[in-house]
Amino acid sequence: MSKIMRLDRFVSNQVYEVSRSEVKLLCKKGKISVNGRNARPDDKIDAEKDEVFLDGRKIEYKEHIYIMLNKPKGYVCSTKDGDSPTVLELVPKELYREGLFPAGRLDKDTEGFVLITDDGELSHKMLSPKNHVDKKYYVELERDIREDTAQLFEEGITIDGNEKCLPARLERIDGEARKCYLTLNEGKYHQVKRMFEAVGNKVTYLKRISIGKIFLDENLPVGNCLEILHKYLPQFLDII
Ligand code: URA
Repeated sequence: MSKIMRLDRFVSNQVYEVSRSEVKLLCKKGKISVNGRNARPDDKIDAEKDEVFLDGRKIEYKEHIYIMLNKPKGYVCSTKDGDSPTVLELVPKELYREGLFPAGRLDKDTEGFVLITDDGELSHKMLSPKNHVDKKYYVELERDIREDTAQLFEEGITIDGNEKCLPARLERIDGEARKCYLTLNEGKYHQVKRMFEAVGNKVTYLKRISIGKIFLDENLPVGNCLEILHKYLPQFLDII
């Protein structure tokens, strides 16, 4: 599919610091070229084929961007919030572009892997219940995990009296009575917390460590972002 668009739109979309009006100025100064020729803001270009240079550096076209965030506590997974900072505030300016949003939500007090993107289609597939994308959490609890908890989760526990969960996998951690991993393939509101409440326990710490086959990079500090190359993303998310 060809990606024909105006030069000013292309440059301002792909390069964070440059607005459309600045593109005009840069064109006047001869700082932008298309296929070796000085460009004008209203030139029509093919984003996938044409070679656009800004100040001697090629602008690599990316239709969408995919960012792994290691979310800290205290941030909300939305694009706007009155009181609390949003996860978008943690995206560094070199990765930032218009239209970014978190694909799926973690609670304000949950840490770990949040995928931030501007790709609505991929996000929709990833979150669609019919695709059953696994999400794995590391969980710390107030009380010892009871012997029957894994079995109850495996059978699909009912929470708050009438909400039936899909089967979930609880993995014990050797030597740990109050820590475990839990893998879900759906995303009900406060699901992990409510599942443990249903078996008389309470989550004290929660961190998402993977989505599909993509694991949170262990070297990524809390509060930091990493760009994920999109080419293999659908495979790793199990959504093709
Ligand atoms: N389950 C929860 O209870 N909270 C989260 O943030 C994610 C899953």
